[in-house]
Amino acid sequence: MAFDIDMIKKVYERMAGRVDSARKIVGRPLTLSEKILYNHLWDGFPKEPFKRGVDYVDFAPDRIACQDATAQMALLQFMQAGKKKVAVPTTVHCDHLIQAKIGADKDLQEAINTSSEVFNFLASVSNKYGIGFWKPGAGIIHQVVLENYAFPGGMMIGTDSHTVNAGGLGMIAIGVGGADAVDVMADMPWELKFPKLIGVKLTGKLSGWTAPKDVILKVAGILTVKGGTGAIVEYFGEGAVSMSATGKGTICNMGAEIGATTSTFGYDASMERYLRATGRDEIADAANKVAPYLTGDDEVYENPEKYFDQVIEIDLSALKPYINGPFTPDLATEVGGIKEKAIKNGWPLEVEWGLIGSCTNSSYEDLSRAASIAKQAVDKKVKAKAEFGINPGSEQVRYTAERDGLLDIFENLDAMIFTNACGPCIGQWAREGADKQKKNTIIHSFNRNFSKRADGNPNTHAFVASPEMVAAIAISGKLDFNPMTDALINADGKEVMLDEPTGFELPPKGFDVEDPGFVAPVEDGSGIDVIVSEDSKRLQLLDPFTPIGDKITNAKLLIKVFGKCTTDHISMAGPWLRFRGHLDNISNNLLIGAVNAFNQETNSVKNQLTGEYQPVPDAARAYKAAGIYSVVVGDHNYGEGSSREHAAMEPRHLGVAAVIVKSFARIHETNLKKQGMLGLTFANENDYDLIQENDTFNFVDLDQFAPDKQLTLEVEHDDRTKDIIKLNHTYNQNQIDWYKEGSALNLIKKENAK
Ligand code: F3S
Repeated sequence: MAFDIDMIKKVYERMAGRVDSARKIVGRPLTLSEKILYNHLWDGFPKEPFKRGVDYVDFAPDRIACQDATAQMALLQFMQAGKKKVAVPTTVHCDHLIQAKIGADKDLQEAINTSSEVFNFLASVSNKYGIGFWKPGAGIIHQVVLENYAFPGGMMIGTDSHTVNAGGLGMIAIGVGGADAVDVMADMPWELKFPKLIGVKLTGKLSGWTAPKDVILKVAGILTVKGGTGAIVEYFGEGAVSMSATGKGTICNMGAEIGATTSTFGYDASMERYLRATGRDEIADAANKVAPYLTGDDEVYENPEKYFDQVIEIDLSALKPYINGPFTPDLATEVGGIKEKAIKNGWPLEVEWGLIGSCTNSSYEDLSRAASIAKQAVDKKVKAKAEFGINPGSEQVRYTAERDGLLDIFENLDAMIFTNACGPCIGQWAREGADKQKKNTIIHSFNRNFSKRADGNPNTHAFVASPEMVAAIAISGKLDFNPMTDALINADGKEVMLDEPTGFELPPKGFDVEDPGFVAPVEDGSGIDVIVSEDSKRLQLLDPFTPIGDKITNAKLLIKVFGKCTTDHISMAGPWLRFRGHLDNISNNLLIGAVNAFNQETNSVKNQLTGEYQPVPDAARAYKAAGIYSVVVGDHNYGEGSSREHAAMEPRHLGVAAVIVKSFARIHETNLKKQGMLGLTFANENDYDLIQENDTFNFVDLDQFAPDKQLTLEVEHDDRTKDIIKLNHTYNQNQIDWYKEGSALNLIKKENAK
């Protein structure tokens, strides 16, 4: 469980030198984000400052965290790298595969029964390769990371979009796909486009019913779900300093909901208090010694317009509580203003459930403030109208909250205490009656409220608010209840008001826990066998991909995709999630969401060997079985969306040699390269129109594959006519070597063996 203090000290030791050098290169004072980024460059300093939003830069993150759904394929790939241990401290957290149904203990046991194969695999791989393993029930990845591993001025990546939560302790923490995590585990650099910077100046101080959650709900309303794209959001000002570290974590967590690369805060007394309360005095002492380097320069915060690409100012003293939703987290409405909107839009006003927890809002402070509202309901004889569900963020928080009587308070309102896990936040909620798809409203303190996310019912209107506001609204059972102005009627028929929430930033008697749920890896894991059953449906060991080689002839068109093709079209999520660790099984969703340009249908393409129309994966398998490579043709921005590596591994597994498109989403293009296949673009995008349904492809000069050199493709049509097409690519020499070896991992393995 132990954090790596030697690694942290090294980060701090080099900080002054690197930050001072960066200041010289940039020629001006620096933001905190820039200090952390320049301190984590993979190799030497550039001669010119990096251009924000333009330059791709190699970084060296300090640590990695993976959750159970994404860790499976990441670790299966890492196993191929031929390394004895991961190159940087890494942890795996079992939190996504636990369904919330009837309460913590039984739900946890059920998850262990149904997913033991996956958990055992993750535990044994972790043990073998020096990875810390957090058992099912230990907690939600981001809360556990904040409590144990996050540190001011650090840089981490995680295979989950809310990795950004660790910005609450002054980190640059970024969510990535498994392939990126594998690179860092295997001691390769991690590439990121140097982000733009958005500054958020917080003045004043929160009070009354307003919570840190309301800051990000307000910011989401201003920036919308796309407003943070490609940017780091850096918070500063007296208001920032006045909030707890976990409150800052909430704000950073939901930076994912505005598309931000990440969010962060400068090191301050709240972070020091949190570090000490969570047993990390050593880190606090070390951070104190370099404190000026762990926050932005004074001049930057005094004149932010000069240094940030965009600046937003929020007065916390004037900020009101918000309710955001439904169906999108940026639809912000001040509490008190929702009734009109709800009636106009037909949102049910009756609230059926109030859910508190998730990685966003499950700290001790969150639970204590929500409990202060719940307690008043009991004391004032008000019966809760909606049902309550609580997901503590970690076993440490749960144990401490139970010890301090907080969970009893919720249980007095008949709340269901679920496992310390994601549960309803990721659709792992067996909510009774959800299959009837009744229109209804719930309110929760989570981050995302997309359709179907909580209970699978597309008609569940999910609203997002602070934990204390969720508690008040769930007690009232009315979405338009405003605890600042409205009274409730109690069991005696009397009108009662709820007082403002109160709580504790940190547990007054300190944190405690009996079994935090951590398993440290053995020192030497070389003797550990990772066992995956041959007939497993959920896990499959990977075989190294065979190089495609420099002769691709007689390849057949698999699909010419019409229009938008995201990674969801290429590798759908939802029910396919359970196959994330089994490449062959998940490949049965290959491109099933993409539209075939020739018949405008999804998942129906012509198999040129039989002339019949078939699902895409079936046609791909038929070509593969016949020893024929296939080719995918696509439109603009092919592969946009998530960074999931399955979208590149599946076509590779099913024998696709090349993906030729008008343009790529960059991460997907890189993922194709990593898997050792060709990701190419039409030099003349109108050549897309030349591709016909029965086309055969011959690569004419692949034996001369070189950086900055076009490739030539001969396209044979059904009527025996031919077109010669020029193709562009962005492979550098190293990436061409990936192609030649069959994959990036094959190359790493080869170099290791030397
Ligand atoms: Fe889990 Fe929901 Fe967070 S799925 S990691 S609790 S966003």
